Amino acid sequence: MTDQPKQGLARGLTNYGDRDFSIYLRRSFASSMGYSQEVLKKPIVGIANSFSGFNSCHRHFPELLEAVKRGVLLGGGLPVEFPTISLGEVYLSPTSLKFRNLMSMDTEEMIRAQPMDAVVLMGGCDKTVPAQLMGAASADLPAVQLVAGPMMTSRHGEERLGACTDCRRFWGKYRAKEVSAQEINQIEGRLATTAGTCAVMGTASTMACIAETLGMSLPGTAAIPAVHADRLRAGEASGLAAARMISNPIRPSQIITAKSVENAMRVLLALGGSTNAVIHLTAVAGRLGIPVSLERLNALSDTTPVLVNLKPAGSDYMEDFFHAGGMGAVLRELKPLLHLDTISVTGETLGDRLEVDLGYVDHRIISRASEPLEPQGGLVALFGNLAPRGAILKRAAADKNLFEKEGRAVVFNSLEDLANRVDDPDLEITADDFMVLQNAGPKSASGMPEAGYLPIPKKLSETGVKDMVRISDARMSGTAFGTIVLHIAPESAAGGPLALVRTGDRICLSVKEKRIELLVDDAELERRRAAWKPGIVPPEERRGYDRLYATEVLQADEGCDFGFLQSVVGHAGSAKEAEK
Ligand code: FES
Repeated sequence: MTDQPKQGLARGLTNYGDRDFSIYLRRSFASSMGYSQEVLKKPIVGIANSFSGFNSCHRHFPELLEAVKRGVLLGGGLPVEFPTISLGEVYLSPTSLKFRNLMSMDTEEMIRAQPMDAVVLMGGCDKTVPAQLMGAASADLPAVQLVAGPMMTSRHGEERLGACTDCRRFWGKYRAKEVSAQEINQIEGRLATTAGTCAVMGTASTMACIAETLGMSLPGTAAIPAVHADRLRAGEASGLAAARMISNPIRPSQIITAKSVENAMRVLLALGGSTNAVIHLTAVAGRLGIPVSLERLNALSDTTPVLVNLKPAGSDYMEDFFHAGGMGAVLRELKPLLHLDTISVTGETLGDRLEVDLGYVDHRIISRASEPLEPQGGLVALFGNLAPRGAILKRAAADKNLFEKEGRAVVFNSLEDLANRVDDPDLEITADDFMVLQNAGPKSASGMPEAGYLPIPKKLSETGVKDMVRISDARMSGTAFGTIVLHIAPESAAGGPLALVRTGDRICLSVKEKRIELLVDDAELERRRAAWKPGIVPPEERRGYDRLYATEVLQADEGCDFGFLQSVVGHAGSAKEAEK
């Protein structure tokens, strides 16, 4: 029995001190599920299924799972589904980002601990795809990412609606009294009407496109709508591809390389994609020891055109992007800027992929590189004494009139303070002021929520103000828009300069110079620093995951991963260990 191939059920045995007994016991328990002896000899493709009743974006996963299983069987493998944590963006408190690393640990450890030869990762909603990519990168077992696909749009009167840029747009109108309570209630039922992820180029869609660009998803699959029959075919093809990788293993560490990460950054910039993706890509790359610097992001941004006209930066939706040619069309336009020798889960190089003629491309939605929507990338990193380690601005979704501006700071020292005062009629604020939110970064009590899209104070929105400069260490939903400076590092809860800003201070923003400066002299800043106290509960007074998170979470420029999860030179914990 000891010369059984170390694949399938024979991998990574439970340790009873007797290897033959371990495999005997495992087989007998697996037999209880009705598998024949013949089936139990097959290699196994695990299917990490993040279906959950708390994740409406994944509600079609039961049907998609059957398609994946069909593909695995076609490829001669045994499909075995296993559950992992799921992160439904709008159901988690204080914010889903806090649990991304937990899901990545769950995914990594279950891939490594259970007997599988390859894995299909079924995810989609914002944090699930980065969590799965992080876990798979660390486990380093052949893996195929299969995303949920975007929702379809709906209608409200003559308007097309799609979660969740339109959620914010109509909520803003309601706050400005342009939409009645009755109408906003009607709209509530029309924003998210099918299975799938948000219908715009938000975080979920951006990460789906990044997964495809990295090579971790099958070519052409990122943008297929969740309810389209092609999504099921993508599921089948993903299962088949994973089964094929068993005889020809390609590990995530061969796919996610410095070159493919740089390609992903180019694509992020060309999409006008989500600011969150900078954090997630940094975290995924960090699992393999690949640095992602904001200075490099700026250098790439200067030479990468914005090509995709989707909300929130543009006007259309993911289903339009799919029909317009999807990622294949974007990659072809970017071809001269990309590293073409990267490989995907198919083993094919990006260069080979782009040799194949795509057919029709709708250039109203995916511009030619020679006629871009914007000559420079959708994101820019800002530096200065207010953000020594950087901050992010999504310039593609911001008001250019606010790019070169000095303003008076109006400071809110927490989310609670913001909620209590933002609509106070006595709040002293004008449209020319800069709204500043403190204590909303990764180490804060709020866990870096998507609160950087500070609401325009009602007294201003009712007069027609649509955008203001807003500055914080928080994140912003990929579906949001505005002149919003995010991810300031180091954050205020860690004693970063943002903690020292006071109402009335002057702040200078220059997108052209990529700078954000607090115009307060150094001596005054030192006085404020000496009086500063961290306003957070220290880790030793917390317990459980909250304590682990508070102790280990890194700053935004490091991807908000846990330090101990990042790549370690000589690390010996990969899935390769299970083959021994
Ligand atoms: Fe799931 Fe937007 S809420 S992708």
